[in-house]
Amino acid sequence: MPTEQKKLATVNCSSDLSDDHLFVRTCKREPAERTPIWLMRQAGRFQPEYRAIREKVSFLELCKTSQLAAEVTVMAVDQLNVDAAIIFADILLPLEPLGVGLEFVKGDGPVINRPITSAADVARLKQFDVITELGYVLQSIKLVVQALNQRVPLIGFAGAPFTLASYMIEGGSSRNFEKTKTFMYTENAAWHSLMEVLSDVTVRYLNAQIAAGAQVVQLFDSWVGCLGPEDYRQFVAPHMKETISGITPGVPVIHFGTGTATLLQSMKDCGGDVIGLDWRVELDQAWAELGDQVAVQGNLDPVVLLSDTEQIRLQTERILRQAKGRPGHIFNLGHGILPSTPVANVKYLVELVKELSTSAKQG
Ligand code: CP3
Repeated sequence: MPTEQKKLATVNCSSDLSDDHLFVRTCKREPAERTPIWLMRQAGRFQPEYRAIREKVSFLELCKTSQLAAEVTVMAVDQLNVDAAIIFADILLPLEPLGVGLEFVKGDGPVINRPITSAADVARLKQFDVITELGYVLQSIKLVVQALNQRVPLIGFAGAPFTLASYMIEGGSSRNFEKTKTFMYTENAAWHSLMEVLSDVTVRYLNAQIAAGAQVVQLFDSWVGCLGPEDYRQFVAPHMKETISGITPGVPVIHFGTGTATLLQSMKDCGGDVIGLDWRVELDQAWAELGDQVAVQGNLDPVVLLSDTEQIRLQTERILRQAKGRPGHIFNLGHGILPSTPVANVKYLVELVKELSTSAKQG
């Protein structure tokens, strides 16, 4: 068939598909004209404009000022030309209404003022209404949806129960998760009840984000890779199943973690339309292991963006080669953009993925 006819045939058969945006179609593993790309932490300190805003307002104030949070969300899309927006917020925001106290201390990251140390602390956690207590995030979502005017879809997100529990028990960030795991091993009933509370909050929060206009949601289980496979199955999996199965049907769910090479199969069994991969796995091997009933997102090492365009190109080509243009690959980093990343490298990556994946489809 001559090229022009071939193109027409492609266009015609796409009328069988939903009229969703490229990114949403890819989450559903529908064929797409090219590989969509967005980047975790695409709004953040690597942008001079973001740093300028942060000189005037604290991080929590920024999250709570919906107009500003919406501006920061849309600014990243405008500047980087990515295929999806992600609402500017933080996975730890629900910890405040749960009553453990949340602060972001300059240089130290998040601090939980009253960490969980006992079953009694779990029992004391407050029940709360997400619409009242986290209404500012829902309002940011509404403003972003309006401003984007369907240009690109908006991703809503929440922390997964394990990762949230780790902050609540450690009192902040952690290297070895000693307190979290010790609590999990020695306070079995309290652990499961904490995970149930967090699962319930997460489901209600994500569904409220969807009702406000989020078209896809991502669950960040950023630190679950610190667990062995059997501990994952015993202490985490039942709660992840419960969480994911509670999310509004039809809305694609991205199930993300890092350091999860040995957990991928179990994570997939818990649910999610898309599994997030970090750079510690080869994308083709991980996808083969997961099977073709799930889409994948990833998996460039964020540190590659600190190098040069030649290295970025080589590593991007390798990832796209491994994905082979199969329906269901969303290009992303394996974890968030680092604050020291040059903006120009991020822009280069976005254009490169668009260019390489488009020419691969045509070729
Ligand atoms: O652009 C986006 O991706 C949306 C915004 C977003 C933020 N945090 C903004 C943020 C998202 C999706 C998150 C998720 C988040 N928050 C995670 C999961 C993703 C991951 O990185 O694993 C985690 C673990 C957190 C908790 C958190 N928030 C930490 C540990 C820190 C301090 C470390 C750091 O990077 O500063 C934050 C603060 C935070 N969240 C910032 C931003 C832009 C930096 C705040 C600042 O301006 O100083």
